[in-house]
Amino acid sequence: MSLLVQITDTHVLPPGELLYGKTNSAAHLASIVKQINVMEPQPDVVLITGDLVEKANEECYTHFLALIEPLKQPTYVIPGNHDSPELMAQFFAGMPYFPVDDATFQYAVEDLPFRILGLNSHCGHSQLPEFDDTRLAWLDEQLAQSDRPTLIAIHHPPMITGIAFVDMVGPEWFAGMAEILSRNPQVRLVVCGHSHMDMSGRIAQVPVYMAPSTSHQLIADRGIDIAPWYINRGAPPVLHHFLNGDFLSGSYYWPEGFEGRRIDEDSGLEWDTLKSYMRGRKKLADPPL
Ligand SMILES: [Fe+2]
Repeated sequence: MSLLVQITDTHVLPPGELLYGKTNSAAHLASIVKQINVMEPQPDVVLITGDLVEKANEECYTHFLALIEPLKQPTYVIPGNHDSPELMAQFFAGMPYFPVDDATFQYAVEDLPFRILGLNSHCGHSQLPEFDDTRLAWLDEQLAQSDRPTLIAIHHPPMITGIAFVDMVGPEWFAGMAEILSRNPQVRLVVCGHSHMDMSGRIAQVPVYMAPSTSHQLIADRGIDIAPWYINRGAPPVLHHFLNGDFLSGSYYWPEGFEGRRIDEDSGLEWDTLKSYMRGRKKLADPPL
C-alpha cells in the first residue's frame, strides 16, 4: 500500500497579492499543506501537477517554495502553462522537487512501490499543451526500461473533456502518447490538472484523473463554446491510493483544525458493536449510522 496526495494549479503570486483581485491562492495552499501534514496515516508522497505560480518569475517561485517547504513528505512538481520549465530547473536546482536532468524537463521517480513519470506539456507561446517528439521519445524509452506499475503526471488533460475551452487544441497533441500507452499496460493511471475542475476519463486503456485546483474552480457548460464561470473556492487534495497494483482515486477532505471525533466515540458504542449492527447481526435502539 502507498498513498500519493495530488494537488494542482496552486497559482501562487507574490506575498500579499490576490489572484484576479479576489482569490488568496497562497492562503488556500498554506491551508492544504497544513491538512496534508496532519493526515493519518501520513501520505508517502505529494505531487503538484503544474501551474505552481501565476507568473513565472523568481518572486512567485520563492513564495511557492516557502509555502510547500513545511510538507513532511517527499514532494515533486511538474510545469503547467503558467510555469517556465527552464526557470523551474534553475530555481529548484539542488533541491529534490524537480529532478530533471535533460532538455525535456521530465523525470522518473523510482523509490516508491510504483514509478512516477513526471511529464512536461508546457508550450512556450500559448496556454495550450505541447508534447513534441523529444518528449515522446523520452516517455517511450522510460516505459521500455521497466514494467513496474507506473503513474504518469502531466499538467494538461490528455483526453477530450467535452469542455470547449479545454478541447480547443484538438486531440492531435496526445495521439503519440496514446499510442505509447496502448502498448505499455504497466501504466495504471494518468493524473493531471489544468481545467480547475475534477473529471475522470481515459487515454488508450489508461484511466485519467483530472484534479480540481487548490486555488479556485471553473464551472463550464458542456457541448457549447462559452466562457467558464469562476468560483473563489479551493478544492481539497486528491488521494491516489495504490492498492493491489492499481490506484483508487478521489477527493480527500481533511479540514484544517478538525478535531476528529469518530462515530464510536460520539455514540459511546464500541466499533465492534457498530460493525455487528452494520452486518445486521445486532439491533440498536438509536443507531448512529
Ligand atoms: Fe491553472
